[in-house]
Amino acid sequence: MTATATQTSTQIQESRMKELAGQKAGPCIIVIFGGAGDLTKRKLIPALYNLSLHNLLPDQFAIVGMARSEKSDDSFRDELTQAMEQFATTKIEPQKWDWFLKRIHYLNGHFEDPEAYKKLQTLLAGIDSKVQTGGNYLFYLATAEDYFEQIIKMLAQVGLTNEDENHWRNIIIEKPFGNDLESAKALNRSILSVVKESQVYRIDHYLGKETVQNIMVFRFGNGFFEPAWNNRFIDHVQITVAETVGVETRGGFYERAGALRDMVPNHLFQLLSLIAMEPPTCFDADTVRTKKTELLTAIRPLKREAVRQNAVRGQYGDGTIDGKPAKAYRSESRVAPDSSVETFVALKLFIDNWRWTDVPFYLRTGKHLPKRVSEIAIQFKSPPSCLFRDTNVDTLKPNVLVMQIQPDEGISLQFGAKVPGPTLKIGQVEMDFRYNDYFGASPQTGYETLIYDCMIGDQTLFNRADNVEAGWAVVKPIQEVWQVEKCADFPNYAAGTWGPKKAEELMAQDGRKWRLDNQ
Ligand code: BG6
Repeated sequence: MTATATQTSTQIQESRMKELAGQKAGPCIIVIFGGAGDLTKRKLIPALYNLSLHNLLPDQFAIVGMARSEKSDDSFRDELTQAMEQFATTKIEPQKWDWFLKRIHYLNGHFEDPEAYKKLQTLLAGIDSKVQTGGNYLFYLATAEDYFEQIIKMLAQVGLTNEDENHWRNIIIEKPFGNDLESAKALNRSILSVVKESQVYRIDHYLGKETVQNIMVFRFGNGFFEPAWNNRFIDHVQITVAETVGVETRGGFYERAGALRDMVPNHLFQLLSLIAMEPPTCFDADTVRTKKTELLTAIRPLKREAVRQNAVRGQYGDGTIDGKPAKAYRSESRVAPDSSVETFVALKLFIDNWRWTDVPFYLRTGKHLPKRVSEIAIQFKSPPSCLFRDTNVDTLKPNVLVMQIQPDEGISLQFGAKVPGPTLKIGQVEMDFRYNDYFGASPQTGYETLIYDCMIGDQTLFNRADNVEAGWAVVKPIQEVWQVEKCADFPNYAAGTWGPKKAEELMAQDGRKWRLDNQ
C-alpha cells in the first residue's frame, strides 16, 4: 500500500463520516459469516432491525448470511423471523419487518472453500447491480476465532477487500482477538498483510453500551469532576463486572478461555482505559485510541511476585443463586472434573503516570456471583483535616462516585450531610441519576451503534491493533505465572458468593473493602 493510497482512503473515510453521522448510512451490503449462528439471531439481526426502525439504513441495502448449513433465502428468512419473536428488543412492525426481510439473502458455503468466495463474489455483484449497493461491503466475522484469519485471506484473494475512491470494504472481527499477546500480534500481522488498519473493526461489545460511551462525556463534557480526577483527590478505584450466570452451554469455550482471558484484557480494560486515560485533544478515532493505548502501557508490569500478591483467581463450587441450587464449575458440561480454569479474577493494578501515581485500581469479574452488576466506583480521599473532632463525629465516610454500567444504568454520588437534630451527626446520603428517569428506556442490543459506526467508517469505538496488544501485554505475566502455578484450592468460592476469601484480603491488606459486598 503506498502512502498516497492510504491517505486517499483515510480522506474518503473522514468525509463519509462527516456527511453521514446521525443520518442514514450509505448504500452497502452486510455479509455475516456465521449467519446461521447464535450471535446473528440474538444480537445482529435485532440490532440491524432497530437501525431500520430509526431510519438509519439506506434503501440500497442488503444482508447476506453465510454459513455451512444448506438452506434457501426463504427458509433463512423464516428462521430469523422466528428468532425475532424471542430476541427483538422492540415490538415488530410488520411493514418495517417486510422491508427488512426482503433484503436478506443466504449463501451456503464452507469458510475454508475458495469456491464459496467466488460464489459470494457473484452474489454480491448481482445484488449491487439490482439494489445499487455500490460495491460497499461490510464483512462481519461472527464465527469461531479459528476462522478469522482464513476468511480475511480468502476474501482478499478474490479481491473482495479491495477498496478505491468509489467503494469501501470494512471488516468487523468479533472477540476473542487472540488468546495471548503473541497470538494477537500474529493475528494482527496476518490481517494487516492483506488489508489496511482503516478497514479493520475489532469489536468489544462493552463499547456499544450507552453508559460506557457516557464515561467520556461525563469526564470531558463537564467541568466539575476532571480537576479532581487524579491522585491528589482520588483514594482508589474499584471496577466490578459481576455476573450471576455460570458458564451455561459454553463449557468447551470457557475451558480454553477462563475469566482472565474472557473478560480482563477486553471488557474490564475498556472500562479502565476510559475512566483513567488522559483527555484526548479531539474526539477523532485515532486520537482517542492513542490515549487508550498510552494508558494501558502505563500500567505497572506485574513481576512474578506481584502476580502472586496482586492477582487473585477463583473457581465456583456448588452453591445457591437466587434461592436455586447451582452446581460447581467442575460439574458443568464439557468441563474437566479437575479443571484448573478460573471463573473469577481480582487484580490490583497501578498506573505509573503523573496523574495516577500511588492510586490503586482494583478490578474484579466473575461468574455465579450474587448480583449481576457492572460498575466503576471512584472513592475520593477524605478532607485534609477533620473539623468535627470535638463532636460526636469521629470518622467521616468517604465520598464515592459510582458509574453503574448495568443494569439500571446511572451515576450516583455519595457524600456526608448533617442529620437534622440538635447534635452534630453526619449521615451518608446519595445523589442519584438514573438514565431511565431522564431519557426513558431505550431497548437496544448494544450492537446498533457499533454496526452503524462501521457502516459510516467511524472507528472510535473499535480497537486498533495496538489497543488489543497493549491489553494482552498487561495480562501476559499473569497468564505465565498461572499456567505454571496451578491453584491448589479450587473450587474456592461457593456459587452465589462474592468470590474467594483472597479477593477480600486483597482489599483488606490495604485497609479497604469491596463496595458492593455488604449491600
Ligand atoms: C462476553 C463473555 O464477551 O461478555 C461472556 O465472553 C460474558 O463470558 C459477556 O458473559 C458479558 O457481557 P454482558 O454484556 O452480559 O456484560
